[in-house]
Amino acid sequence: MKIQKGNKILVVDDEPAIGKTLKEFLDLQGYTSSMVSSGSDAMDILEKDKNFTLVLLDIKMPGISGVTVLKHLKSLCSDIAVIMMSGHGSEALAVECMKDGADDYISKPFSFEDLQQRIERTLSHREERIEKMRLQQEKDDFILMLSHDMKNPLTAVIGSIDIIREGCLGTVNEEQEEYLQSAIDSCNEVVLMIDNLLDIKKFEAGKMQMNIRPCNINELISKVSKQFARPARHEGIDLSVDLEPLKTEIEVDKNSFIRVLGNLLGNALKFTPQGGRISISCHCITGKGILGIKIPDYAQVPSDFFKRDHFVKVVVSDTGNGIPANELECIFDRYTQFNRKTGRDLGGAGMGLAYCKLAIERFQGMIWAECKTGQGSEFVILLPVIKSSEAEAFAPVEV
Ligand SMILES: Nc1ncnc2c1ncn2[C@@H]1O[C@H](COP(=O)(O)OP(=O)(O)O)[C@@H](O)[C@H]1O
Ligand SMILES: [Mg+2]
Repeated sequence: MKIQKGNKILVVDDEPAIGKTLKEFLDLQGYTSSMVSSGSDAMDILEKDKNFTLVLLDIKMPGISGVTVLKHLKSLCSDIAVIMMSGHGSEALAVECMKDGADDYISKPFSFEDLQQRIERTLSHREERIEKMRLQQEKDDFILMLSHDMKNPLTAVIGSIDIIREGCLGTVNEEQEEYLQSAIDSCNEVVLMIDNLLDIKKFEAGKMQMNIRPCNINELISKVSKQFARPARHEGIDLSVDLEPLKTEIEVDKNSFIRVLGNLLGNALKFTPQGGRISISCHCITGKGILGIKIPDYAQVPSDFFKRDHFVKVVVSDTGNGIPANELECIFDRYTQFNRKTGRDLGGAGMGLAYCKLAIERFQGMIWAECKTGQGSEFVILLPVIKSSEAEAFAPVEV
């Protein structure tokens, strides 16, 4: 391995003699180094000078310890590498530090040769890590740019096909209309994937803007179900909608919630064979009724969730192949398709459910999947209700 010259190393040790010896050694090896003798001085200098690439950090120091400095650096997502220096009896702490993000540790007393090897190894790992992150960022930026630029022409394609389908340019027969509609459906699927991807990125960057206001949940469900009536009929699938005759309001961004339901129904349609059934239902739960619902451990419960009194439970179920129990949690991670091959055959990129989770969490709700292996899948959404009253003129929804 080569000495990575030009690297700036900070030595932090409360014993000045050790700090001085280390600094002299490092400078002799061609590094640029500085030394400080306390945790607070280390934090100050690292705050002011961002050019350090490595810290040799004593674990036990009076005042602010090396452990605290390490945690501080990691909380800032700093890409600086850290080697902890442990004295006699602090090996267990050193191992803890590795869990907290330290790159390595070395037990005192150590030889210069051992130290030199660890420094070289740590610095080259750091360089690899930074390069990997840079490539990932480049890939993400490229995908985002491509996705963004693909959406406009696709929307134009949908518009043009729709004009022909509607018969504005001449009569189209039923078969032609069917083909044109299926072209539109496929384009819309790609637009949905792009929207999911772009919004997931916005969520992750903390830049997702939402227009959250009271919405009638039955109206939203009816609207989405109607959009799926034709494709379901086309696939020979029975789609049923079961809503309580209530005027129940939830606080969501209307378009985003519609997209969540669209993703769930789209999946149900994709994974259910001909002749199968899909159902979407919505029921209110009041008071202690919520305690009877088995919420999986992985579903994050929003703060003060159980202090509320009224909830809605939306369930989308299908009679497809279902999802294995051990996959139920990870299907909500982006780019995850458990039956990657089947998923690929059926299209998609594994972003729909990731979007659903982020959106529902923003609405202070929860979403999870239940296992009915062999009998289909069931997706459950729980959301707090702001108000609910008997609907004056509620008509059951026909789809
Ligand atoms: N209704 C369902 N039935 C069976 N598997 C499902 C269902 N919904 C989702 N999945 C599984 O979860 C994966 C992730 O879904 P999603 O995030 O919507 O991505 P995509 O639809 O693009 O594959 C799917 O690829 C599939 O493996
Ligand atoms: Mg999907």
